[in-house]
Amino acid sequence: MTVYLNGAYMPIEEAKVPVLDRGFIFGDGVYEVIPVYSRHAFRMVEHLKRLQHSLDGIKLPNPHSEREWIAILNELIKRNVPEDQYLYLHITRGVAKRDHAFPNPPVPPTVFVLSNPLTTPPAEQLQNGISCITVVDNRWLRCDIKAIALLPNVLLRQAAVEAGCAEAILIRGDAFLTEGSSSNIFAVKNGTLLAPPKDNLMLPGITYDVILELAAANGIPFEVRRVSKAEVFSADELLLSSSTKEVLAITTLDGKPVGNGKPGAMFARLHPLYQTFKRDVMRK
Ligand code: PDD
Repeated sequence: MTVYLNGAYMPIEEAKVPVLDRGFIFGDGVYEVIPVYSRHAFRMVEHLKRLQHSLDGIKLPNPHSEREWIAILNELIKRNVPEDQYLYLHITRGVAKRDHAFPNPPVPPTVFVLSNPLTTPPAEQLQNGISCITVVDNRWLRCDIKAIALLPNVLLRQAAVEAGCAEAILIRGDAFLTEGSSSNIFAVKNGTLLAPPKDNLMLPGITYDVILELAAANGIPFEVRRVSKAEVFSADELLLSSSTKEVLAITTLDGKPVGNGKPGAMFARLHPLYQTFKRDVMRK
């Protein structure tokens, strides 16, 4: 497995970061996850735009231009074996004496990119859907930043795992849906797809955007608006999206069936549309 670290490609065993890296000490950095199908990065420019948004959000200058990023990512894809990969990009504020404030003068950021084999959801999950729990969204107010400091998300996901579930659905202020611990969540009511708005309380998902584009292009009614907790519990269907999970049906919530407990009509429409779109884009 070949990785990229600060300008060089190397076997993962040789990639080392000093212990005073602010990513290690403070979680002071941002990341991206980009799926790669047939050696083509999916929506690379959109992912790099979101990376810029995250970097702006933590006031860290982008170490690379878009052209440089594309060259680095394509080279890494080439140097790794799997046809389908996911790229993990990780940028921290660099190595400095421990002090909460930014290093002054600034130090070079740490830039790390990893390629892993991409495993999309197994047939069993596509057929039966997944189980989720609802949890209180106790994260900060800048969830639009893809921060490497993921302790809240880690704890919320662990709560799901301990309940025998695949994902935790986050409810803010006991009132409305934000997203999953590492995914976006949609509800479906009377044939309409309900999508929470891309504000500071959720990560603006790249897959989320693809799903809404597919809905618009295929005459599927959708509304982008707050989705109340009550609407989550009375939804006909719940769907999950992310770069690595693509689209999945949530068929059990807090131990009770969602709708009739099987993947529903909206999932049956969107999943093939997503697969076709993916194939068409990759052929291009
Ligand atoms: N997570 N919301 C959160 C909190 C996420 O961590 C993710 C993705 C998403 C979905 O975004 P996208 O469609 O762009 O993947 C929403 C990635 C996959 C991860 O952390 O591994």
